[in-house]
Amino acid sequence: PPVDAMLLVDDFEQWGEKVLSGTAWNYYKSAADREFTADENQNAFRRYYFRPRILRDATNGSTNTEFVGMKTALPVFISPAAMAKLGHPLGEVNLTKGAGRCGIVQGISINASCSLDEIMAARQQGQDVMFQIYLNKDRQASITLLEKVTKLGASAIIFTVDTPWRSKRTRDVRAKTQVAPPPSNTEGGKGPAAGADASASKAPLGVSRAISGYQDTNLTWKDIDFIRQHTKLPIIVKGIQSMEDAELCAEAGVQGIILSNHGGRQCDFAPAPIDLLYEMRINRPHLFGKLDVMMDGGVRSGSDVVKALALGAKAVGLGRSFLYANGTHGEEGVVRLCEILEEEITNTMRNIGANDIKDLKPEMVGPAGPWVG
Ligand code: FNR
Repeated sequence: PPVDAMLLVDDFEQWGEKVLSGTAWNYYKSAADREFTADENQNAFRRYYFRPRILRDATNGSTNTEFVGMKTALPVFISPAAMAKLGHPLGEVNLTKGAGRCGIVQGISINASCSLDEIMAARQQGQDVMFQIYLNKDRQASITLLEKVTKLGASAIIFTVDTPWRSKRTRDVRAKTQVAPPPSNTEGGKGPAAGADASASKAPLGVSRAISGYQDTNLTWKDIDFIRQHTKLPIIVKGIQSMEDAELCAEAGVQGIILSNHGGRQCDFAPAPIDLLYEMRINRPHLFGKLDVMMDGGVRSGSDVVKALALGAKAVGLGRSFLYANGTHGEEGVVRLCEILEEEITNTMRNIGANDIKDLKPEMVGPAGPWVG
């Protein structure tokens, strides 16, 4: 169907299931074990409802905001996700161009299927992108890469920490697909290609296992300092799943955190990020003043975005939805997805009495059912 026929974020997933290759669908949709967390990420949003405020003049409004020093036209970013070329031959470059047209920030995965040079060259003047890193067992490769992305003009480093060990991505494993690893973004050492899981070629265990063999499993809090030593860029730690670790991130002095469970792809029964955000708002509100708090996982509508913003998130990420939009409609799909979100965010904001992102307040959202007492 034409891209304009897409009315909901979910429409891209529905079409994706029909038109994507089996390899792409199984890799994108896949989650850990029985996929409970992947479902819960979305279901949890249904447990929060608004308390709309009235008589606040909804005529003019704006969705412009910023997070970690980056300006954005929407409180939404593209979560870094690997292998966009499985869905569309132009891969991540479509995401870059779409993000540029819509004024949003893209997270680039270290496992992107386009080369870093290609992606960075597809940006508009001044377009902010974040680079997501997994640390390589060969630390020299990580150093070279951090220096390269800093020089090429990334605006932030996302350090993903929720993958200390591989997981069983059930439908990806069942599909047993073999893929060529993404280009080595880790120049100067054993990159993703060189570090690919050697067993993958003998007995294919899916896309995820084929591309992740280079990742260091021996990570500690000291690695935040390691990254800081090799780049001046702000650091955003992605994959925070407890209040204790959120506190440690504030102590470590990072600029941002993303409450995330990797879209349910790592630890089945990890908590839904929107619940963590609520927990933080209730139990640790001081954290919102110490670093920028973002979240991703299960965001499928503008109302989801607004709920997270009202609870204190600076911006929220979408992973699969951008891959599906790119897979079904390429760059135009990416732009259409932003339009859908913009319309829904604006409608929701106006209907709850917020003309501006800063008008969104915790009192406007809470658990479903009456708030008594
Ligand atoms: C991911 N994600 C991810 N995260 C990351 O830090 N580096 C990566 O390379 C990838 N790769 C990746 C591939 C695919 C196919 C998916 C679906 C996800 C996780 C991603 O950034 C994000 O946390 C989730 O996708 C958010 O959940 P939703 O929006 O997909 O529900």
